[in-house]
Amino acid sequence: MLLLSIESSCDETAAAVVKDGRRVLSNVISSQVSVHAEYGGVVPEIASRRHLEAVVPVVGQALGDAGVTLADIEGVAVTQGPGLVGALLVGIATAKGVACARGIPIIGVNHIEGHLLAVFLEQQVQFPFIALVVSGGHTHLYRVDGIGRYATLGQTLDDAAGEAFDKVAKLLGLPYPGGAVIDCLAANGDPRAIPFPRPLLHDGSCNFSFSGLKTAVMTHLRRHPDAGVEGNRDDLCASFQDAVCDVLVRKTMAAAEAEGLARIVMAGGVACNSGLRREMGEAARRQGVDLFVPSPLLCSDNAAMNAVPGDFYLAHGITSGLDFDALPVWPLDRLAERVAAVRYGE
Ligand code: KG4
Ligand code: ZN
Repeated sequence: MLLLSIESSCDETAAAVVKDGRRVLSNVISSQVSVHAEYGGVVPEIASRRHLEAVVPVVGQALGDAGVTLADIEGVAVTQGPGLVGALLVGIATAKGVACARGIPIIGVNHIEGHLLAVFLEQQVQFPFIALVVSGGHTHLYRVDGIGRYATLGQTLDDAAGEAFDKVAKLLGLPYPGGAVIDCLAANGDPRAIPFPRPLLHDGSCNFSFSGLKTAVMTHLRRHPDAGVEGNRDDLCASFQDAVCDVLVRKTMAAAEAEGLARIVMAGGVACNSGLRREMGEAARRQGVDLFVPSPLLCSDNAAMNAVPGDFYLAHGITSGLDFDALPVWPLDRLAERVAAVRYGE
């Protein structure tokens, strides 16, 4: 099936054309980051307006890059949530317009599900596996038994990992979004320079907490103002990043061990982090676990990833109709209702 995918949950307007939920023919991403940078974070109303301006040209480019026209498209997959409602609605309205005009099926896709299945655009992963989704809004560990079959093992109790990166970057006066900038500076720093806490590391759960770590950075900066200046901040960034990665890696490995699984998928924007990719890779090798991580372009927000679940659902006759709404909150476990009638392995 040739799918048109659309994503507009936050500050990227994205569209892709994907064949059979696996072969990416085009993947266009128009970022609004520079617009929001001056406010130090995403401004929802501005995001919606920018999506409105960008969505039609972005869809047009995705079709053009793939060498197809709307007449060739057989189904539409669009991010339904979680995300900013006003932003989501732009993608949803566009997708509904295409589906209605062409008389083709449409499916609303869960954004977190898209992230954790993005890896299938590049590699085959056998179910079941453990998935760590680390983005600006989510830090979740799941057991994944199949598309649509997700069990939450743990999640952040406060800030998401990406949010912690962005907030620490802000404390250091670095531009938004700060994750990639901290990653860059950390490469030149000593991760053992400052012993930042490892929140909830030994609580025996799969939950995370990052707001205390951010406060520890703030307290350190108050006591040692020089730690944040150019020349010294590399050590602070490396130490902070090491604390985040240490907790993410050890909790993910513990989850794999507890579930008796030897496959781990890591996804979401923070999965671009070079320290996290390296640390998770080393820990996986030590534990004899296979680690699957998408290329950075497929870790951060994109539309192609929606096609993996989108194609599966549409192929099983599961559609959203034309009257579905944006969902600001949408836990993955709820997808069990959607796939209740699916007979896996047949
Ligand atoms: O998945 P994503 O693109 O959007 C959401 O769904 O949230 O993730 C964005 C988050 C931001 O917080 C950003 O700072 C973080 O991912 N991020 C990184 C890196 N690249 C992006 N965090 C750490 N290191 C990176 N290299
Ligand atoms: Zn995302």
